[in-house]
Amino acid sequence: MQKALLDDSQPNGIGPGSHDEASYALGYSKHELRRLALQGAFIRNLTEDFLRRAGLARGMQVLDLGSGVGDVSLIAGQLVGPSGAVLGVDRSIEAIETAEKRVTEAGQCHWVRFAAAELDDFDPDKKFDAIIGRLILMYLPDPATTLRRLADHLRPGGILAFQEMAMPSVRSVPDGSEFRRCRRWILETFERGGFEVDMGPKLHTAFLEAGLSAPQMIAAGRVEAGPQSFVYEYVAETLRSLLPLMERLGIAWAEEVQPDTLADRLRAEATGNSACIMPPPLVGAWTRLEVPLNEK
Ligand SMILES: C[S@@+](CC[C@H](N)C(=O)[O-])C[C@H]1O[C@@H](n2cnc3c(N)ncnc32)[C@H](O)[C@@H]1O
Repeated sequence: MQKALLDDSQPNGIGPGSHDEASYALGYSKHELRRLALQGAFIRNLTEDFLRRAGLARGMQVLDLGSGVGDVSLIAGQLVGPSGAVLGVDRSIEAIETAEKRVTEAGQCHWVRFAAAELDDFDPDKKFDAIIGRLILMYLPDPATTLRRLADHLRPGGILAFQEMAMPSVRSVPDGSEFRRCRRWILETFERGGFEVDMGPKLHTAFLEAGLSAPQMIAAGRVEAGPQSFVYEYVAETLRSLLPLMERLGIAWAEEVQPDTLADRLRAEATGNSACIMPPPLVGAWTRLEVPLNEK
């Protein structure tokens, strides 16, 4: 079922600028929009726990950076409820259209909205109680500068809360040759594409460089095993989205990756070895802005 859902690689419309996999490793295919929603379901609980811990609560006004197809905005929308509001920002117009449909289906369209913008040009005319994001800072050339600039839009006492991956910590125990190749392809493509594979542990430094106080931090991850797990599709479909950049960088080619059979190969290897797969942990960091940064 998941494979059928993902079986479409048509490019979609991109928002306020022209972007390709050079500026966003996973690209903007319809397949990627569906993969994002499946990933969102896979890690939903980890993000909900994190946002509760960070202090998101009823009635808050929240800004969600790099909102994609709306998964984090939907969680925030549930936590703040109709007396609050969530604004998701993303550069992809099609991602936003999908996100809008999803919040309507979830009955949250009166208080969860979206705007198409490049984060570095985004200049909201209001203040927020919380600025949040998941899997966005790793794509920005200078995350600390973006955090610092957007923190000006936080009310005193407002929350900054971000969740990012520690990608090199992905493991299979015991290891397997198919899994090892996938791990290498994914890490090398992100790294050579210029994206930060270890943004999770680097959140501490990014917050400090932004002039924020040292964040509280926590890591959370799924631990997967057995033939029913979604983890094999997760790895295979991530590679399918990365393929255009991977080929351009000369890291691997479709003939070698064989994305159509990859999930089944990974499943057969893992179940044959009774392996346990630990996808990359999500590292969460949060802090409160007690004094506006321009008064520090
Ligand atoms: C990996 S997705 C994460 C989406 C969502 N936060 C989630 O966790 O499901 C990253 C999103 O950030 C957006 N993005 C990346 N760089 C951006 C930028 N400079 N300005 C606006 N959006 C950006 C992409 O379009 C993409 O939708």
